Amino acid sequence: LEAGSIPDGPQVVRREPASLRSARWFGPADLRSFGHRSRAMQMGYAPEEWTGKPVIAILNTWSDLQPCHAHFKHRVDDVKRGILMAGGFPVELPAISVSESFVKPTTMLYRNMLAMETEELLRSHPVDGAVLMGGCDKSTPGLLLGATSMNLPAIYIPAGPMLRGNWQGKVLGSGSDSWKYWDELRAGKITDQDWLGIEGGIARSYGTCMTMGTASTMTAIAEAVGMVLPGGSSIPAADAGHIRLCSESGRRIVDMVWEDLTPQRIQTREAYENAIAVAMAMGCSTNAIIHLIAMARRAGHAIGLDDFERYSRKVPVIGNVRPSGNAYLMEDFFYAGGIRALMNEIREHLHLDCLTVSGQTLGEAIQGAKVYNADVIRPLSNPVYGQGSLAVLKGNLAPSGCVIKPAAMDQRFLKHSGPALVFDDYPSLKSAIDDENLDVTADHVLVLRNAGPQGGPGMPEWGMLPMPKKLLKEGHRDMLRLSDARMSGTSYGACVLHVAPESFVGGPLALLRTGDIVSIDVEARAIRMEVSDEELERRRAAWTPPAPRYERGYGVMFSRHIQQADEGCDFDFLRTEYGAPVPEPAI
Ligand code: FES
Ligand code: MG
Repeated sequence: LEAGSIPDGPQVVRREPASLRSARWFGPADLRSFGHRSRAMQMGYAPEEWTGKPVIAILNTWSDLQPCHAHFKHRVDDVKRGILMAGGFPVELPAISVSESFVKPTTMLYRNMLAMETEELLRSHPVDGAVLMGGCDKSTPGLLLGATSMNLPAIYIPAGPMLRGNWQGKVLGSGSDSWKYWDELRAGKITDQDWLGIEGGIARSYGTCMTMGTASTMTAIAEAVGMVLPGGSSIPAADAGHIRLCSESGRRIVDMVWEDLTPQRIQTREAYENAIAVAMAMGCSTNAIIHLIAMARRAGHAIGLDDFERYSRKVPVIGNVRPSGNAYLMEDFFYAGGIRALMNEIREHLHLDCLTVSGQTLGEAIQGAKVYNADVIRPLSNPVYGQGSLAVLKGNLAPSGCVIKPAAMDQRFLKHSGPALVFDDYPSLKSAIDDENLDVTADHVLVLRNAGPQGGPGMPEWGMLPMPKKLLKEGHRDMLRLSDARMSGTSYGACVLHVAPESFVGGPLALLRTGDIVSIDVEARAIRMEVSDEELERRRAAWTPPAPRYERGYGVMFSRHIQQADEGCDFDFLRTEYGAPVPEPAI
């Protein structure tokens, strides 16, 4: 059967074993294939184990410095068990783990590296389908971007959220409570001893951050776009159901290969609209915008900030999970019915006929899913936040847009004007911020620039700029902040992010000066600096571009090819339709 010749729709066509991609390596009676077979036998496999069977790559992002994926070291055996049961041949191919907690300056520098690695691992090896094991923030888009461009049948297994944190009987949420209690410590409200207790209690099991951070956002998106078995993205990492998800995904991928159920058949434009709707309803991380745009464009759909804006106006936040919600965590979300129940609540905003990896349509996959706690997963009639979680602002400070998360900020900053206090880099901001004589009021707009895709480099999660100590002591816990950086999905506050184009490449943010008045109006989706066009022209003429960040290594490639935030920060040359198609490798 020719690739791409299977008609869309629910009918299932079974491929012939001889048509398997791996058969090109293992089948022919020639010297090359002799080599492949003899080397497989060197590893102890008998020809019966692979002949006529789909070879399934398991892309495992486990590492000893990746706490969110620690269980993948063992879960991979459950995946293999499933593949073997269904008559496939599993092969584990390790991939970079992009550990959010340890990789510096930011994992965002390496998302595209994982995407390239994924695509090339699949292309260069004798495999017919892939199980993608990820979960920590950038691992989900990284794996999916690569698998989408390669377009072999693929299924995603999210690592699952870790258990709720606990300290002195109080529930702790990943990220969110670190920021919160850090400010309490700096304000003198808790002791060093308390802080140590929080350090030991906030991350109690393997698994991803259990707030609605980037990890939970992106795994929900992976499911909404159809790439995860129904309900899979909400299962806590430490739940036995997660083990069963692994073996079931192993069984299912083998059939997906026989059915030639490729990412392109699943990831339609409508599937991406579903992902945006779900992201909004979940109270998603701002990072969702960047990753979803990149992913959709790989699948061939021109999704942009306007699509987010459209959905943000119509889909309210109904997932009451921190930081947009005020009380609950992913474990509670799972007990309340999980993602299937949430999608069922917003079904009027979804395209229900989209296909999923299960072989069912989305409508079938969520049919009958019930909410068991209507405070955790709210009905549309009683949302956590009336409009979508994110808003896209435009104006002379951000002609290509910027992003704010109105659901997780002090509402008095939704419409605000104040003088800018501008820092050119993170170290100078950090060294000034605890100065109790800093010339700053709660009405100021704290600004960091040169923190975008090229300037960061890698657009680090610095966007929740630290509150000046002076203001903390005065009792303030929020102020308007602005940068071309990202922020963690577990962060909160009146933070304007992703200003595009970034200052490092000469975006207007580069021209802002301390004392200029910055105004935002979230309802009007507007952001401005109150500086005349003539004055901006004068400043532009005097502006000199900063020195390049890299002169050798991966960073050079990154700097030359990274696209701006509003375009998804993909490398230009990774766009699936860029240049002539990459051929199958010669064997
Ligand atoms: Fe891995 Fe948050 S650090 S998901
Ligand atoms: Mg994060």
